[in-house]
Amino acid sequence: MAKLKPRARIIRTVGDQLISGPEAAIIELVKNSYDAEATYAEVKFKYSVSEGFSIVVTDDGHGMTYNEIVNNWLEPATDVKADKQWSRNARRRLLGAKGIGRFAVSRLGEISLMTSIAKNDEYIESSSIYIDWSLFSAEKYLEDIELDIVKDVVVGSESTGVEVEVSQLRDNWSKKQLERLILELRRLSLPRSSEDKFSIFLDIDCF
Ligand SMILES: Nc1ncnc2c1ncn2[C@@H]1O[C@H](COP(=O)(O)OP(=O)(O)O)[C@@H](O)[C@H]1O
Ligand SMILES: [Mg+2]
Repeated sequence: MAKLKPRARIIRTVGDQLISGPEAAIIELVKNSYDAEATYAEVKFKYSVSEGFSIVVTDDGHGMTYNEIVNNWLEPATDVKADKQWSRNARRRLLGAKGIGRFAVSRLGEISLMTSIAKNDEYIESSSIYIDWSLFSAEKYLEDIELDIVKDVVVGSESTGVEVEVSQLRDNWSKKQLERLILELRRLSLPRSSEDKFSIFLDIDCF
């Protein structure tokens, strides 16, 4: 008996093939916000002298619980959504189906921090997962890479949603790339009805 034993870098090579460019990566994250029944997604470019540029995508959707991150977000090609057509409260027809949003994060930069606030069966829970994607360029076997998720109880707020911050960006984000991003966000004509609002905000003030 033998098994396939993928090296960690398979995650990056597959991801880079599936995501055509950094603009497409951001579009995938915005689609995930839409699928989570958010009323908005905000895409913000930030700059600080110590950390350089980063991209933050924030939404107010239903978020993911700790268990959902572990069993779903961290399981590429999982089939939970493969035959699902409608969002959680059947409000929207899902845009995501191929499970490539996870790779979008690694396409954008080397470091990501995703914080998700979601309601589990009893209370509001916050989970954060930090990923240093350069670990996935190393010789290691995929199964040997361990990721930490920090879990907490949220008291005093009922709001849910996801924030993904990606830093050590892989692209320079030239004027041309930003223009293409604006165009693609505009073109992302999401199928919304009059009672279902979804707004996309883009903040590039730091440039
Ligand atoms: N912003 C988000 N809010 C809530 N859940 C999310 C968000 N982004 C990703 N997810 C969850 O992670 C799963 C994996 O995302 P993704 O890789 O983009 O695949 P999919 O094709 O299912 O959208 C989604 O099916 C969804 O359950
Ligand atoms: Mg998706």
